[in-house]
Amino acid sequence: MTAFPATESTAPDLSAPILSVRELTTTIHTRGDARAVVENVSFDLVRGRSLAVVGESGAGKSMLIRSLLGVHAPGVDARVRGSARVMGVDMATADAFERRRVLRESIGMIHQDPLRSLNPTYRVGTQLTESRAFGNQRPSRRSLHRRAIEAMAAVGFRDPVREARLLPHELSGGQRQRIGIAAATLNEPALLIGDEPTTALDVTVQKRVLDLIDEMRERTGAALLLVTHDLAVAAERCDDLIVMRAGSVVEAGPTLQLLTAPEHPYTRALIDAIPRLDGPRTRRLCTPTEGNLS
Ligand SMILES: Nc1ncnc2c1ncn2[C@@H]1O[C@H](COP(=O)(O)OP(=O)(O)OP(=O)(O)O)[C@@H](O)[C@H]1O
Ligand SMILES: [Mg+2]
Repeated sequence: MTAFPATESTAPDLSAPILSVRELTTTIHTRGDARAVVENVSFDLVRGRSLAVVGESGAGKSMLIRSLLGVHAPGVDARVRGSARVMGVDMATADAFERRRVLRESIGMIHQDPLRSLNPTYRVGTQLTESRAFGNQRPSRRSLHRRAIEAMAAVGFRDPVREARLLPHELSGGQRQRIGIAAATLNEPALLIGDEPTTALDVTVQKRVLDLIDEMRERTGAALLLVTHDLAVAAERCDDLIVMRAGSVVEAGPTLQLLTAPEHPYTRALIDAIPRLDGPRTRRLCTPTEGNLS
């Protein structure tokens, strides 16, 4: 593994991992009890590549993201061992100041529910101008506003000057998610992380949102770490795949290889669970009272 220092003055080594995780283990401590929710996870993610993390609910996907960012929910006693280097900075051992700097300057986070990260009382345009994603620069209010409008146009808002004045609840779920993407990508972060960013959206909006993420990455070369329970999304969008179960990685490798020749029975079971339209229908997708999908 080659790590590179954040302050390197020569041209950065583009093949060096943007994210390098080694033997990451997270234990949650509750009264008199300790439970490992992430166990011994290691992987590298380089510039321009995309990596999907898949696995059933409770597999530890979100805990893995939280652990590698060093950000846990308030009140959760999570103890992390191992390392997670973002642009060479180990997020597991960095002090709060350094960790915040890396989060602000190098990472764009897209949440499943953008309402959680948007303030309901501020217009969305204002939230974009005040987004931490602008980093340490202190541009004028006017240029911040212009950048927010441009960012909204880039994620498909047709009338961004008007729409920037709306409150989050005045936007649809898909529009809010596009604001989330605009906020996460404003500063052109080296690493984009999405934890189920499209799960709450219908399939057409989901495709649009994922296309937008791809377009941004093509332009900026950002790496993508995408948590999804949807193997079809992982197959279509990500170069590499990690399959998690009960906190551990059961299988990892290039997506195509894993999906065409899975070695682990759990990966095979996940693949078999994908509903197919082209094969024989062996079981109902829904009960007659819910309507028929065919
Ligand atoms: N706040 C918490 N306090 C204690 N344990 C937690 C907390 N959040 C999650 N866990 C536990 O950590 C484990 C991994 O949870 P995690 O949220 O990472 O799963 P996940 O793979 O993201 O699932 P999903 O697909 O449902 O989002 C689970 O066993 C869960 O019960
Ligand atoms: Mg989760």
